Amino acid sequence: MSNLSGKIAVVIGGHGGIGGAIAERFATEGAIVYATSRRAQAGEVECGAGRLRQAQVDASDLTALSAFFETVQREAGRVDVLAVNAGLSEFAPLDAISEDHFDRTFDLNVRTLLFATQAATAIMPAGGAVVLVGSIAATIGTQGYGVYGATKAAVRSFARTWANELAPRNIRVNVVAPGPTDTAMMAAASAEIRERLTTLIPLGRMARADEVAAAALFLVSDQSSFITGAELPVDGGMAQV
Ligand SMILES: NC(=O)c1ccc[n+]([C@@H]2O[C@H](COP(=O)([O-])OP(=O)(O)OC[C@H]3O[C@@H](n4cnc5c(N)ncnc54)[C@H](OP(=O)(O)O)[C@@H]3O)[C@@H](O)[C@H]2O)c1
Repeated sequence: MSNLSGKIAVVIGGHGGIGGAIAERFATEGAIVYATSRRAQAGEVECGAGRLRQAQVDASDLTALSAFFETVQREAGRVDVLAVNAGLSEFAPLDAISEDHFDRTFDLNVRTLLFATQAATAIMPAGGAVVLVGSIAATIGTQGYGVYGATKAAVRSFARTWANELAPRNIRVNVVAPGPTDTAMMAAASAEIRERLTTLIPLGRMARADEVAAAALFLVSDQSSFITGAELPVDGGMAQV
């Protein structure tokens, strides 16, 4: 039997990059996956043992997000598995941080993540699992990414609290914390930044999105049934050695 056979999964930010890899992997493992994206065409495809259903939703719009969860509840009745992936990262050293940069980053990386988790866990039965996409930027203080790192530190903190709050309902909450990963987000950084980051990774390369998805799958499957409140780095050792 597949790891997520018969499960209803939601991926917030589930098209392209890490979120797309997570949505596809969850579906391949047998889940019916509801994924949000601003860019994707709405529609449903078979994917491995499961199905992938894309909804065109801007995750930073809480009204649209709430309507999306109403649709999931009406159609599927529950959410067994939640992955919150949507996040943005913009370069801004301390002297260049604007209110707009701060608000945009916290709105998506923290506010959306909080209210998506609130909506999903409201209809999550016992045995459910949440994986939040954090970052090793929460712990390593990368120059120019202060606001981004602070949002990911908030994600790490939320996971500890929610793991504690939801344990009595037998719902687990964990963080997958990628290091530099080869996606559109990383392509937006300058060649100089990408090269500098790669030299800091003991395994000598960036992660692939499917490697992050494999860790996310582990954290929502029964393979990790006694793990909650934890953070699993997928960083080639960058923040570990
Ligand atoms: N790539 C890395 O090196 C790296 C490292 C550590 C952590 N992460 C984290 O991994 C997650 C995914 O990143 P990625 O590398 O896969 O980047 P990506 O390809 O740029 O994907 C970003 C995701 O966030 C959503 N998003 C971005 N800006 C948005 C906005 N203003 N409003 C609503 N949704 C927005 C996108 O949704 P749409 O489809 O709607 O555009 C997409 O799902 C993020 O949380 C990021 O912080 C990435």
